[in-house]
Amino acid sequence: MEQFQVKDKSLAPQGHLQIEWASKHMPVLNQIKSRFSKEKPLKGLTLGACLHVTKETAVLAETLAAGGAKVVLCGSNPLSTQDDVAAALADEGIQVFAWRGQNTEEYYQCIDKVLDHKPVITLDDGADLVGTLHSKRKERLKNVKGGTEETTTGVLRLRAMEKAGNLKYAIIAVNDAYTKYLFDNRYGTGQSTIDGILRATNTLLAGKTLVVCGYGWCSRGIAMRAQGLGANVIVTEVQPLRGLEAVMNGLRVMPITEAAAMGDIFVTATGDINVIRKEHMQKMKNGAIIANSGHFNVEISLKDLEALSTAKRTLRPNLEEFTMKDGRRLYLLAEGRLVNLAAAEGHPSEVMDMSFANQALCAEYIAKSDKMTPKVYTVPCDIDETVAELKLKSMGVTIDKLTAEQQKYLSAWEMGTT
Ligand SMILES: NC(=O)c1ccc[n+]([C@@H]2O[C@H](COP(=O)([O-])OP(=O)(O)OC[C@H]3O[C@@H](n4cnc5c(N)ncnc54)[C@H](O)[C@@H]3O)[C@@H](O)[C@H]2O)c1
Repeated sequence: MEQFQVKDKSLAPQGHLQIEWASKHMPVLNQIKSRFSKEKPLKGLTLGACLHVTKETAVLAETLAAGGAKVVLCGSNPLSTQDDVAAALADEGIQVFAWRGQNTEEYYQCIDKVLDHKPVITLDDGADLVGTLHSKRKERLKNVKGGTEETTTGVLRLRAMEKAGNLKYAIIAVNDAYTKYLFDNRYGTGQSTIDGILRATNTLLAGKTLVVCGYGWCSRGIAMRAQGLGANVIVTEVQPLRGLEAVMNGLRVMPITEAAAMGDIFVTATGDINVIRKEHMQKMKNGAIIANSGHFNVEISLKDLEALSTAKRTLRPNLEEFTMKDGRRLYLLAEGRLVNLAAAEGHPSEVMDMSFANQALCAEYIAKSDKMTPKVYTVPCDIDETVAELKLKSMGVTIDKLTAEQQKYLSAWEMGTT
């Protein structure tokens, strides 16, 4: 069986340095790694992972391997693999099938290669691995004990599978841990999305009108960081509560049809389809920049952008210019794929430390459990709390402890107004 497929194995030395740099900023995962090296909780298990192949994912793969697992990895997006990191992982004996710039066929071929290795536990980001297992590769389902899911879109898909009675094994929604979405989705996506936009364009955000579609965990992070850089932020939403939060946070909220004519920069992070489409593109200003940070490249209608334009050219890496029939030019970043991973490096290591600590501890939990049934589980509370405790400790921050009196008071009803 094939052991790896990467773009260029000679990039490994640079990849090792990248992984070393990430690892220095992932103290929680490193603590788990040292314990795993001694206890070997994943001994003899094959773990099939479909994750963005970044330097932080490499530290996770090393942690799982230290726990005794055979790790087989493919990318969870055709444009997010860091080729030097993939080469370094292959060098370390991790079975990796990933390179940047795959076409759809190659992308799914790599998922198939992971499944050829008969994983017992799956780690997915977006549920393409799980989707393939439940459709084209059903014969591999019998090997699988459980899995984890990293992102909001993946969890939505899995819950839909569960509801339809199609989910055949237990999956822990890592995304829904507090120590994941409150930090990774908000601060990670917030910072790295801006990073991706800047690397692709080097545009000035101060004084620009930036339209964020969605006010969920990712999009509020983007709005917050864009505000910090001096952009005038407009939010579009479909949920009243979220729209209200955005208003109370001092942002302008309006439908995308109105915002379309006002924005200099547009960023989608909704997990939804065709959020920016023909009727919005028709209203956009000459020079408007459009980017997506949601999981799939369906939030901006690429079909509509192509149909409305008469010419396109690539001006810089990750920056495509579309000339409209009326002469306006619109600029699409990173082919509409998640801009933070395709045009930058994804989330900083410090937040991935928590997300991937959850991944490692949930993989251990699945390995040790014999009671899980086919449904979507939340991350056990003690795992979430352990990750928060370890992270605070690694930052040198201590917090107070409840006194015995406070503990009693907080669990009693007798005492009221005094
Ligand atoms: N780029 C990254 O690195 C990264 C990281 C984490 C999550 N994600 C992805 O980002 C997406 C959003 O994740 P999240 O955790 O913020 O989800 P979320 O559910 O917290 O937020 C999504 C928000 O979008 C809103 N929305 C839905 N359709 C809309 C529409 N047509 N117009 C305006 N708003 C709309 C929803 O009401 C919701 O408030 C998902 O696809 C997720 O998988 C990306």
